[in-house]
Amino acid sequence: MHSRRIAVVTGANRGLGLETARQLAERGFHVILTSRNPQAGAEALKRLQTQNLPLELRKLDVNSTEDVQALARHIKESHSRVDVLVNNAGILPESSRDAGAKSANPLKVSPVTVMEIFNTNTLGAVRLIQALVPLMPEGARIVNVSSGMGALSDSGGGYLGYRISKAALNMVTRVFAAELAARGILVNSVCPGWVRTDMGGAGASRSIEKGVETIVWLASAPQATESGFFWRDRSKIPW
Ligand SMILES: NC(=O)c1ccc[n+]([C@@H]2O[C@H](COP(=O)([O-])OP(=O)(O)OC[C@H]3O[C@@H](n4cnc5c(N)ncnc54)[C@H](OP(=O)(O)O)[C@@H]3O)[C@@H](O)[C@H]2O)c1
Repeated sequence: MHSRRIAVVTGANRGLGLETARQLAERGFHVILTSRNPQAGAEALKRLQTQNLPLELRKLDVNSTEDVQALARHIKESHSRVDVLVNNAGILPESSRDAGAKSANPLKVSPVTVMEIFNTNTLGAVRLIQALVPLMPEGARIVNVSSGMGALSDSGGGYLGYRISKAALNMVTRVFAAELAARGILVNSVCPGWVRTDMGGAGASRSIEKGVETIVWLASAPQATESGFFWRDRSKIPW
């Protein structure tokens, strides 16, 4: 048991999740860095521990109810609360190079692929919220890492599964923001922009540091009180 605030980050072994974990730890949170692959998580943790940051690793596949429940039990026993949940884990298997089941073409992509994306990107966040909200005090924050590709107001063609999953994740934000308002728990969606991670690719316009800026701000800024919005670069954007 310790006095630091507790933050949970999903998909934190690489990309935006890893950098979010690092920056929250730098800001004084005790960060529970979660990874579905324990080996990848251990390697990520090792890199961060050279900075002597307050971090611990837990195995978490956001599609596994058992993993989610085990995480909630561990946190309840060891820390007794959660102050920040960053739902970052996500997949984008659809590709313009695939002419089959994982095609970016909405006329070709398999509904099975669409379901898999929805399960991870949307229901993954729901599983974590349902399990961890009972441990959240007033003032806790939930940050759902969404995407402009899920904005109804700004949608092009292509990437049907990914777009559906992020539009639905934005509705998850709205529903839980309303549901948890009376408890003072803030729930927001964020678009990190197009970021140079494995998902975004080397040609993306933003660094990882820039990509996590608004995620970390929503999770940790002391003056934040707004809930139920969609953010990019610390400004609200249309759904
Ligand atoms: N990069 C961009 O341009 C961009 C733009 C808009 C939104 N986003 C969103 O930002 C978030 C992070 O993306 P990123 O760019 O950092 O992608 P990334 O480098 O591909 O990392 C994705 C992370 O999610 C994890 N993950 C995937 N499925 C999981 C599961 N079932 N359980 C637990 N972890 C799982 C991955 O774990 P493994 O290593 O085990 O695969 C990895 O740690 C995603 O939600 C993405 O949709 C990214």
